[in-house]
Amino acid sequence: MKILVTGGTGYIGSHTVVELQQQGHQVVIVDNLSNSRGEVIDAIAKITGIKPEFYQFDLTDAEKSKQFFKSQPDIDAIIHFAAYKAVGESMAEPLMYYRNNLDSLINILQGMKDNGISRIVFSSSCTVYGQPDELPVKETSPVKEAWSPYGNTKQMSEQILKFACDAYALQVIALRYFNPVGAHESAQIGELPMGVPNNLVPYITQTAIGIRPRLMVFGNDYSTPDGTPVRDYLHVVDLAKAHVTAVERLQTEAQKMPYEVFNLGTGTGYSVLEVIRAFERVSGLKLNFKITARRPGDIEKVWADTSFANSELGWKAVYGLDDMMRSAWKWEQALMQQKLPGRY
Ligand code: NAD
Ligand code: UD1
Repeated sequence: MKILVTGGTGYIGSHTVVELQQQGHQVVIVDNLSNSRGEVIDAIAKITGIKPEFYQFDLTDAEKSKQFFKSQPDIDAIIHFAAYKAVGESMAEPLMYYRNNLDSLINILQGMKDNGISRIVFSSSCTVYGQPDELPVKETSPVKEAWSPYGNTKQMSEQILKFACDAYALQVIALRYFNPVGAHESAQIGELPMGVPNNLVPYITQTAIGIRPRLMVFGNDYSTPDGTPVRDYLHVVDLAKAHVTAVERLQTEAQKMPYEVFNLGTGTGYSVLEVIRAFERVSGLKLNFKITARRPGDIEKVWADTSFANSELGWKAVYGLDDMMRSAWKWEQALMQQKLPGRY
């Protein structure tokens, strides 16, 4: 297939482009580089030997988006990653989040409608569940009131997709990711947080390499085995492979329903302290960390029921926590060699 990957130079997008190319698909990337670097295109080419076609523009620009779709009449499917994703920033700048994440989706759906493209895989998030009443979380668990504009854009996007799917006879798969971490084994691509990272794993690796003095562990008074919050961490390469499976499911018309939702996680929850211990185990280093107050807005515990993704999508995560930490650490060390500005 010829697949449009929006946000394809980003963290999850770049890993997915690699897996798509390795499965013989042709990829076209659109990204405005608002949260990624153009060099990722070369890094992808280094891994796969194929340079993906790349267009740099903002998908919220309706006219540019329209022109782009007109110029690409043979797109078979779309994987839509492009969005802003920082929860805290979305609290401070809600309109920026609604505009970016919703306008881009609407322009893409318009392009699909106008050009007869019917297949789309969408990046959703476990954040749509909030703090679930029952664990593990199933796809049928209720979507709770959003805690942040970011989370709200994911809920709204899912609804927009559902109605567009009915109205325009689309084939849609929404993938609800749990906590993607780690990097490609080549250490050519990985997560590249701009400025101070919000997420746990890049904060750990940046602390270990000396960019940050100390990791703050946000609270140890939760009702979890060691008191620190529990998440379902998932290797980004496993996640990337799930996208290949999903888009091929659309191609082969294997869907049971035109609009489907799958949880993507390992099904196992780990606490913050367990993640730190895994990092120390694989790196052989002692991490400097301190327990501090809870981070406002954090949920206590969440992990996925992956049985629907396993049985119906035919996908299962294979990497464990140590693999995730090992690859994240290898990537951090490779990044250090590049001496990128704006990381210190
Ligand atoms: P990322 O920021 O690394 O990648 C997103 C890419 O989209 C970036 O390269 C950015 O430049 C691009 N982009 C953003 N707005 C754009 C626009 N208007 N036009 C064109 N390009 C634009 O993020 P990621 O971690 O790879 O996340 C990918 C998707 O997965 C996002 O939709 C995110 O909300 C979702 N998601 C991520 C996580 C996570 O933990 N990383 C968890 C759940 C869901
Ligand atoms: C956050 C977002 C979520 C988003 C996800 C991936 C919130 C409330 N949720 O999830 O919507 O999909 O990122 O981008 O922000 N931690 C520390 N110290 C740190 C950083 C994190 O102790 O410096 C802890 C957190 O308290 C949490 C765990 O590590 O318990 C994981 O945090 P993080 O990586 O930010 O992911 P989430 O909070 O699960």
